[in-house]
Amino acid sequence: MEEHVLKQVHAGKRDFLGFSHLDAAKIIELFDYSLFIKRKRTERSSGDPFLPLKDRTVAMIFSKPSLRTRVSFELGIHELGGYAINLEGKSIGVGSRESVEDIARLLSRYNDAIVARLHEHSVIEGLAANASIPVVNALTDLSHPCQVLADAFTLYEKGLWHKDIKVVFVGDGNNVANSWIELAGILPFHFVLACPEGYTPDSGLLDAARNAGISRIEVIHDPEAAVSDADVLYTDVWTSMGQEDEQEERLRIFAPYQINSRLLGLAKPSAVVMHCMPAHRGQEITAEVMDGPQSVVIDEAENRLHVQKALMVKLLNHEEYRKFHLTHRLLNAAKNIKG
Ligand code: CP
Ligand code: NVA
Repeated sequence: MEEHVLKQVHAGKRDFLGFSHLDAAKIIELFDYSLFIKRKRTERSSGDPFLPLKDRTVAMIFSKPSLRTRVSFELGIHELGGYAINLEGKSIGVGSRESVEDIARLLSRYNDAIVARLHEHSVIEGLAANASIPVVNALTDLSHPCQVLADAFTLYEKGLWHKDIKVVFVGDGNNVANSWIELAGILPFHFVLACPEGYTPDSGLLDAARNAGISRIEVIHDPEAAVSDADVLYTDVWTSMGQEDEQEERLRIFAPYQINSRLLGLAKPSAVVMHCMPAHRGQEITAEVMDGPQSVVIDEAENRLHVQKALMVKLLNHEEYRKFHLTHRLLNAAKNIKG
């Protein structure tokens, strides 16, 4: 297909590199669609196939290890009738064997979307700038929006999400913390990050979220003060992928930031515990808390599947996505008229 024709086919393509192009209403819409997608999955054997990604293919590039992201994207695309092609970042040589621009232009001729887990965020921006198909951030050193979308959805699904919910992230100001901060610039809630000095989040994202004036956002260094009255205690590894050389030092510096029963006891009795996983029991979280009654870690991991399926339909079959929301609104309006 000629490039100019292809550009028309993909006109108005949407990327998902972070939350910046969304607003609160669009996020709630995506959550409602995720609920629908999740319900649909339980009705799989009903003989009513739901294949909104039929004939669509997605190229997935993984330059870092993954369990949840890779399985949930590949399975999700398959369940929606599409086909996922897995590419190891090392084998295609992103930016070394081949330029980012060429990879983006070439994959745009073969596929309908690119899902990528990369090191530098600038590389995914380069892919998005040069691809004529949607590009989805499956984690970079800067952010992990798919994770935080599934996390917030988990709270929404459980009926816990409200504008004053206090989410306390205890640990490193890393990619996952950055995405929570980005979300706080769009959806109203109370976000607190308790991190050691020198391990603060990205200052650009933090300033932008604060300037948006949507949420109360605090970055403090005292984990005990942070978790007081918390509704959600959240943590992630102390050493992210690519930081392995710093592990020993990080184990020492982060030791006071462990989520354990004592820290959990300072939060609201109803508080839930979240972890994006993989988890290191005995480091950022104790086994007792990770596997305890307040933990929702497996629910949030499962929800990666449903939320990413919803996202893929939004990006690749907007007509189907829009149809759902129109029907939804009409049904609600009819309900209201009936009283
Ligand atoms: N939480 C998460 O993204 O897990 P993986 O690194 O296993 O994909
Ligand atoms: N912060 C972690 C998240 C893993 C899902 C990392 O980047 O390794």
